[in-house]
Amino acid sequence: MKRITGLLSFLFAICLVVACGGEGQGDEIGSSDPEISSRAFGELEDGRQADLYTLRNSNGVEVDITNYGGIITSIRVPDREGQSANVVLGFDNLEGYLDEHPYFGAIIGRYANRISDARFVVDGQEYLLAANNGDNHLHGGIRGFDKVLWGAETGMDGSLTLTYRSEDGEEGYPGNLDVEVVYSLTNENELVIDYSAETDRATPVNLTNHSYFNLSGDTSGDILGHTLEIDADSYTQVDEELIPTGELLPVEGTPFDFREPFRIGERIGDVPGGYDHNFVLNGEPSALPRLIGSLYDPESGRKMDVLTTEPGVQFYSGNFLDGTIRDGAGNLIGKHAGLCLETQHFPDSPNRPEFPPVILHQGEKYETITIYRFSVE
Ligand code: GLA
Repeated sequence: MKRITGLLSFLFAICLVVACGGEGQGDEIGSSDPEISSRAFGELEDGRQADLYTLRNSNGVEVDITNYGGIITSIRVPDREGQSANVVLGFDNLEGYLDEHPYFGAIIGRYANRISDARFVVDGQEYLLAANNGDNHLHGGIRGFDKVLWGAETGMDGSLTLTYRSEDGEEGYPGNLDVEVVYSLTNENELVIDYSAETDRATPVNLTNHSYFNLSGDTSGDILGHTLEIDADSYTQVDEELIPTGELLPVEGTPFDFREPFRIGERIGDVPGGYDHNFVLNGEPSALPRLIGSLYDPESGRKMDVLTTEPGVQFYSGNFLDGTIRDGAGNLIGKHAGLCLETQHFPDSPNRPEFPPVILHQGEKYETITIYRFSVE
């Protein structure tokens, strides 16, 4: 009897392999190629249409991006129970983005972060930029890359390529700058952002993405209970206008020491105004992105690693969010409802020759990659 049962289970096992083997292969979790689809998102004031693209991988992770501002409107990833939720702040309609908002999810350029007194000198010539943050220039000016409609093309590999020509003189910058940003989602749950640009005249360039993350999902609560790790021994000291003084201060023994994972809320009270600082990342910036930090939400188990080729990252703890805006689900977005990890060159570098250089010359190619990688623990 034993032998017959044994034989039967053996035959059953063979049948299973034959029945499921061939046909199942393409459908296995993690094995099919990432996909992209699109739909109309809304109309701009000038009548042009903005679209919304959905990148989807074989694990069911979904990222929505509109070609208005190159904005990531949603990233849906599972928690440790397998429940998916949106881990970035934003709206579910274009109108929200056309109204005033604090750069939710957008591509920032031509120069991310601040340029003091909205001026700089290149090749002996002074350029005056739009002053949109007191006397200073912030995030590309009044109409930065976050407020323009980008050309969009979908790729067979499920990627989205956005293109924009920033014309000579736009917001005060010299030279025509052709920018390309490729968003792709891998089956390893990595959102890869690949930026490149070329110019016909020397100009500063510093591109980043301004997503506000809240790993608890669907804007529930704040990010003070998240733990953060940043591989940086120092940060750029800033004055009261958040302009670097030129000093690099060691993080050792300060609330800026995130070399080991630390709960964000633990020391934020010791940082006047909250975190809004550029961390000087360890390791040489190179052509290949390196792991520079991780964000973790112990409640949901969601974790996000950040990899970049950039020398710095602005950790902004959502200090200016004030509960006057509602997200797509109708929740009010209050102080610390989300945080940004903006990979970048240092603020005010065009006026700080001692910082890593940011001037792109004709004939050169600006290239930088940042990856947000999601997992659960
Ligand atoms: C950046 C800046 C902050 C703030 C936000 C937008 O991250 O560093 O000071 O301006 O953008 O509100």
